Amino acid sequence: MGPELHHVSLPVENLARSREFYAGVLGLIEVPRPGPFEAGPKSFPGAWYQLGSGQLHLIVSDPGRASPPTYRTNKKLDARDVHVALRVRSFAKALEVLTTKGYRVGHPDDFKDMRVSPNLPHQGAGFPQIYILDPDRHTVEINAETLDIAPERLAALDIGIPREEIARFSHEATRIAPP
Ligand SMILES: [Fe+2]
Repeated sequence: MGPELHHVSLPVENLARSREFYAGVLGLIEVPRPGPFEAGPKSFPGAWYQLGSGQLHLIVSDPGRASPPTYRTNKKLDARDVHVALRVRSFAKALEVLTTKGYRVGHPDDFKDMRVSPNLPHQGAGFPQIYILDPDRHTVEINAETLDIAPERLAALDIGIPREEIARFSHEATRIAPP
C-alpha cells in the first residue's frame, strides 16, 4: 500500500473567523495541537481538525514572515483551482445545512456563493459535489457517495440546474439513492 494522506495545512488570517466556518458551518471536530505549538517560544496560533484518519491544520499567517503564505487573493470559487475535499455521509443534509446558513448558487456574496454538481454515474466525478469558499478564499469541496436527495427537492433548492436536466436524471438518481 502506498502512503496515506496525513493532513492538509491552510494559512488563515483570523482564527476565530476560520473556526466559525470549519466548526460552526462545516461541523468539523477540533483536536488539541502539540503542546509546543500552543505555548512556549516556538508557539504559533492555529487549529487542528480531525477528518477521519487525517487532519486539517489551520495556521495563522505571520505578517512578519519574509515569504508570505499562499492565498487565493481576490479569487472567486473555482472547482479547478487548489481545493480541499471533505467526504460527508449525506449530500442532502450538507445541502440543507448550507442553504439554511444562507448559501446559494450564484449568491453575489462570494462567501455565500455555492456551486453544486450532482455528478451522476457516467457524468463528471460520479459522486455529488458542493463547492464553497472558506473565509480566506480557500475553495472547499464537500462530496458524498450518493445523491441521497429527491430530484424535486434538488430542483426546489434552485441550485442552478435546469428542471429538464433534473427530470432527465431523476430515474437514475432514485435508483442509486432510494429516499
Ligand atoms: Fe475535487
